[in-house]
Amino acid sequence: MKQKLIAGNWKMNGSLAANEVLLQGVQQGLAQALNGKQAQVAVCVPVAYLSQVQQLVKGSGIEVGAQDVSAQEQGAYTGETSAAMLKDFAVRYCLVGHSERRQYHGETDEHVAAKAQRALSSGITPIVCVGETLAERDAGKTEEVVKRQLAAVIHTNGHCISEIVVAYEPVWAIGTGKTASPEEAQAVHAVLRAQLHAATEHADRVQILYGGSMNAANAAQLLSQPDIDGGLIGGAALKSADFLTIIAAAAR
Ligand code: PGA
Repeated sequence: MKQKLIAGNWKMNGSLAANEVLLQGVQQGLAQALNGKQAQVAVCVPVAYLSQVQQLVKGSGIEVGAQDVSAQEQGAYTGETSAAMLKDFAVRYCLVGHSERRQYHGETDEHVAAKAQRALSSGITPIVCVGETLAERDAGKTEEVVKRQLAAVIHTNGHCISEIVVAYEPVWAIGTGKTASPEEAQAVHAVLRAQLHAATEHADRVQILYGGSMNAANAAQLLSQPDIDGGLIGGAALKSADFLTIIAAAAR
């Protein structure tokens, strides 16, 4: 059975001291949360802390992720981090196209697709984030928006498409405490799954995560949906007890 993936997205939070406390807490409770079962766990951390986090999680089974990657290979791109640099720190996953990047940094679907390609060519799994705004949902455009966002990545990454992770994150649910209901989320996940099926015979092995105010109280219901293969967790990933409860809900 495909394991579920619980990925924390720390966003621009943390400090050397706080990261240590948080990861110690997660590691101390991990075996109990998994309770002899399996789930994949990752933390997507600020690039400044990759080295520290790589050391802290060594041997724990927790994977390290980044939150962004340059679409360029190398060179005169001040402030950017290349996929090869991330790989130097044993980065396994990289978020691409998070709505905060699309919104505050003007990332287009094509730019996001290029980033996914860079990650894949360095052996890093891109976690491709898609999701509609509230205005788009109210206008009945949810399906159209998420399909357009995923199509750009499918178009650019062709034969590697079964190697990506997709995260459906309705923008109106991120950091707001409003979650899509399990049924609403499942309906969108099914649309994304069908789109992947049309692109690859391996669509069933692609993990499609839900993100947007997933927390200790609602995780189990969301994760019980057939096409919800894990979670991308913001706020609740900053508290070890909450993150562990979500991991426990994902363990199979
Ligand atoms: P949230 O963030 O869990 O705090 O809503 C999720 C995300 O933005 O990845």
